[in-house]
Amino acid sequence: MVNRSKYPRHVAVIMDGNGRWAQKRGLHRIQGHRAGVAALKEIVKHSRKIGLEYLTLYAFSTENWKRPEMEIKNLMNLLMEYLKSELEELKTNNIKLRILGDISALRKDVQEELEKAVAQTRENDGMVLSVAINYGGRDEILRAVRGIVKDVCEGKARVQDIDQEFFENYLYTSGMPNPDLVIRPSGELRVSNFLLWQIAYSELWFSDCFWPDFTADMFEKALDDYAKRDRRYGGVNSVD
Ligand code: FPP
Repeated sequence: MVNRSKYPRHVAVIMDGNGRWAQKRGLHRIQGHRAGVAALKEIVKHSRKIGLEYLTLYAFSTENWKRPEMEIKNLMNLLMEYLKSELEELKTNNIKLRILGDISALRKDVQEELEKAVAQTRENDGMVLSVAINYGGRDEILRAVRGIVKDVCEGKARVQDIDQEFFENYLYTSGMPNPDLVIRPSGELRVSNFLLWQIAYSELWFSDCFWPDFTADMFEKALDDYAKRDRRYGGVNSVD
């Protein structure tokens, strides 16, 4: 019997394998991404149902700009579609939307739709759904360094105040707890520039299943596995 009190507060997911899922079926990559959105909706719904506090999804990385222009356009259109069709659902379910990443590089209409959804869900306190868009972990750390140097130069911060807690205030995830668990489907065993600072002590969970096939049951399995793990953060938990 799994102890639910040991469930994670914050789960981060690298939604990978949409392209291969489509390829396996002789479909276009965009159809894989569309199926990926359906999986995403199920996981968001399930996370809310079980009372998860923070769910963070990697939707578009700073490296994804290397993809063909048409795929990028299709992904942005899917994101727009998602925001338009799900905003009411997010509101009804008391979900607060947060964006991690530099959205100033996105199409104006996508930026506006994102800002609208963030503004209209700002007061919600049921679950925080963070979507990483044009996000890169190294990029985020450099952005934080620039922000701190600027504040020091302008006399708003002192060098001796820069500790881990202080640094975290300059990250996109400011104010959020670090992920307890990172889930990566699709058989790849890497973190791909996702939340590099924040996952220093996160538990990692991998699966061979492509993201569009990922179900609420698999999500539960990941949470159950997490609940059985012994997190020591470099220390010791038991006396032998
Ligand atoms: C990785 O699969 C997936 C992505 C780069 C995009 C994920 C985006 C979505 C599921 C849709 C848009 C997001 C929202 C929030 C509506 P891949 O293309 O790298 O798969 P592959 O490794 O098999 O090629």
